Amino acid sequence: MYKRFFNLTRNPFDLTPDPSFLFSTKRHNEALAALYYGVRRHKGFVVLTGEVGTGKTLLLRCLLQLFKQSQDVAYAYVYNSRLTPAEFLQYIASDFGLPASGKNKGELLLELGHFVISRGSKKLTTVLIVDEAHHLSPEILEEVRLLTNLETTNDKLLQILLVGQPELDQKLDSVGLRQLKQRISLRAQLDPLDANETKGYIERRLLIAGANSHASALFPAPTIAAVYRHSHGFPRLINTICENALVTAYAKQMRYVTPEIIHDIAEDFRLDVVQLPDAEPNEEMNDAEVRRAAKTLLDLYAALRKPLPHDAEIRVPLPIRGRQA
Ligand SMILES: Nc1ncnc2c1ncn2[C@@H]1O[C@H](COP(=O)(O)OP(=O)(O)OP(=O)(O)O)[C@@H](O)[C@H]1O
Ligand SMILES: [Mg+2]
Repeated sequence: MYKRFFNLTRNPFDLTPDPSFLFSTKRHNEALAALYYGVRRHKGFVVLTGEVGTGKTLLLRCLLQLFKQSQDVAYAYVYNSRLTPAEFLQYIASDFGLPASGKNKGELLLELGHFVISRGSKKLTTVLIVDEAHHLSPEILEEVRLLTNLETTNDKLLQILLVGQPELDQKLDSVGLRQLKQRISLRAQLDPLDANETKGYIERRLLIAGANSHASALFPAPTIAAVYRHSHGFPRLINTICENALVTAYAKQMRYVTPEIIHDIAEDFRLDVVQLPDAEPNEEMNDAEVRRAAKTLLDLYAALRKPLPHDAEIRVPLPIRGRQA
């Protein structure tokens, strides 16, 4: 609606996790590298956690795009984790293209086992990716543990990526799951953006949407500072605020977004009364391999700047959920 008025070619703050919009912060680079190299080097079991709306699903979509370009990677992508154990296995099997209907749990495990072992013997990579993994029940996590047993003496045959909100860590910490926790070989964490990154993030989205030289005129520095103040650097919130700001500026026929517009939107969305998670110290990843990989991945980003396929999932704005201290 406002695109022509602001001279934009696309909507800059769409909530769909679209890889072509990826803004690569240090944390996002490290996390993507951990996921990518965790799979490539057959590390086995990798966990990525991050608060609501920090970019986990976006990173997974980037990863899937990279895997789609590789002939030797087959993946099953589960994003509905509220399933029974049998449904979970059925879903995975059919995503791998295996016959799954009418099979019981034992048969499905056997089928999956054969598939993974036969691919392993041909030096092919097989990946199970679970998004929203914080919703997984203990029963399903037990199935995941059984799947981590698919290994030879010197190689993990099934690569498993569990991605979810920080409650996932708490789940994995529970006594019953310590066997699973011990199998984690790589961990990564996403955090909200800092003030500088928020500026870069907004400007990059505007540039991709065709703003070119007028990006900083559309969102001047004090406006971006107000966005950061109210969003605390959570990318989904930044998008929600900026999208609404453009709609408001358009309605007022203003050529740029003022800090006042941002304050009004924050008030409408009651952003300042939402409890935010406690800041936690950043755990540095010390795996040198992953660090080197982060650099390499920068080159791979070029491959990610493609539009989403038509069947892309459309996300609706979610209010931010604070975590109790
Ligand atoms: N580094 C980034 N670059 C560009 N856009 C980003 C980045 N991080 C997050 N976003 C955008 O923020 C929004 C939320 O991201 P996403 O859906 O991936 O979050 P999430 O961590 O999966 O959230 P949830 O826990 O609710 O599933 C999306 O529109 C996504 O494109
Ligand atoms: Mg998500």
